[in-house]
Amino acid sequence: MSRTAAGRVPGVAVVGAGHWGQNLVRVFAELEALRLVCEVDAEKRSRCAASCPGVRVTERFTDVLSDADVSAVVIATPAASHHRLAREALAAGKDVFVEKPLALTAADGRDLVRAAQDRNRLLMVGHLLEYHPAVVALKALVDRGDLGKIQYLYSHRLNLGKFRTEENILWSFAPHDVSVMRLLLEETPVEVSAHGASYLHQAVADVTVTTMKFASGVRAHLFVSWLHPYKDQRLVVVADRKMAVFNDTAEQDKLVLYSHEIDWVKRVPVPHRKPGEAVPLEAAEPLRLECRHFLDCLQTRRTPQTDGASGVRVLEILEACQASLERDGQPVRLTHAD
Ligand SMILES: NC(=O)c1ccc[n+]([C@@H]2O[C@H](COP(=O)([O-])OP(=O)(O)OC[C@H]3O[C@@H](n4cnc5c(N)ncnc54)[C@H](O)[C@@H]3O)[C@@H](O)[C@H]2O)c1
Repeated sequence: MSRTAAGRVPGVAVVGAGHWGQNLVRVFAELEALRLVCEVDAEKRSRCAASCPGVRVTERFTDVLSDADVSAVVIATPAASHHRLAREALAAGKDVFVEKPLALTAADGRDLVRAAQDRNRLLMVGHLLEYHPAVVALKALVDRGDLGKIQYLYSHRLNLGKFRTEENILWSFAPHDVSVMRLLLEETPVEVSAHGASYLHQAVADVTVTTMKFASGVRAHLFVSWLHPYKDQRLVVVADRKMAVFNDTAEQDKLVLYSHEIDWVKRVPVPHRKPGEAVPLEAAEPLRLECRHFLDCLQTRRTPQTDGASGVRVLEILEACQASLERDGQPVRLTHAD
């Protein structure tokens, strides 16, 4: 890891060392940036103290804010607390990395972007997939025109758990898929339509299917569920030269390209199937790449790839999907263009 002029990696505090936060604790410790962990649960604090010798632990967020050794705060608490904690960290002059979703309303997301601008602080959101070697490779292929024109894409993010009550499946899982679709297409949908159903809690959707229309003519769908018998995370891109499958649950060959051809015989389309070709990928943990990017941005003051503004765009799309979900799939138009 590159270091500051004083020879030290910027000091980071991780707030929330739960299911996901413990991964951030591990990686920032490996990158020699972790100074402090803030966790309200005593057992999890003890676990962090044992696994990261030399790193301080606290239950008080005020300790994070007042710690001069901590220049950046990483927030991995439940989504309902993101806005308040990030706001306080920015007000205390810290740079901030917030796990997805940035907040639970676009208005709160915009408030964080303004607060970061006012204090000249960095604000990054944990849209992890944008740092995934398969997504980085796919984006490069799309930008080079190797796939041709994208016609349709879909994303499935399915698993059993982790059930939440603060937000529904759309706000919990879909930020990843929406951020990747925006990255690949470089446009925001003009219209969305979402259907869903709640089984575990009356008002919390466990499964949603969303369709999206883009001004370029691209169409997409997004299927997310935490009530599914097995883990399935895949993104399929159908373009007019090649098709791509990013299967994040595959052990290897996570990104495969297909160069199928379609011939027209007597005005009838006839498919000629070709075998899939695996795209060689950098063997690096996406979370490590994401955390390194944040540390690089802290040092260079570069705007993060997944900055607050991109986090807000994702929230605006999710809000439109939520509005449609509440009207049983009625199409909702988006007013904010990219
Ligand atoms: N990027 C990803 O791939 C990914 C994956 C899973 C979860 N997440 C996100 O990470 C965040 C946390 O999710 P999780 O699954 O780890 O939840 P979790 O409930 O397992 O963990 C949250 C932790 O925060 C602690 N906490 C709550 N309020 C706190 C406070 N004020 N101060 C200190 N600690 C506090 C809780 O005790 C708990 O240990 C969510 O925003 C979630 O969407 C991201």
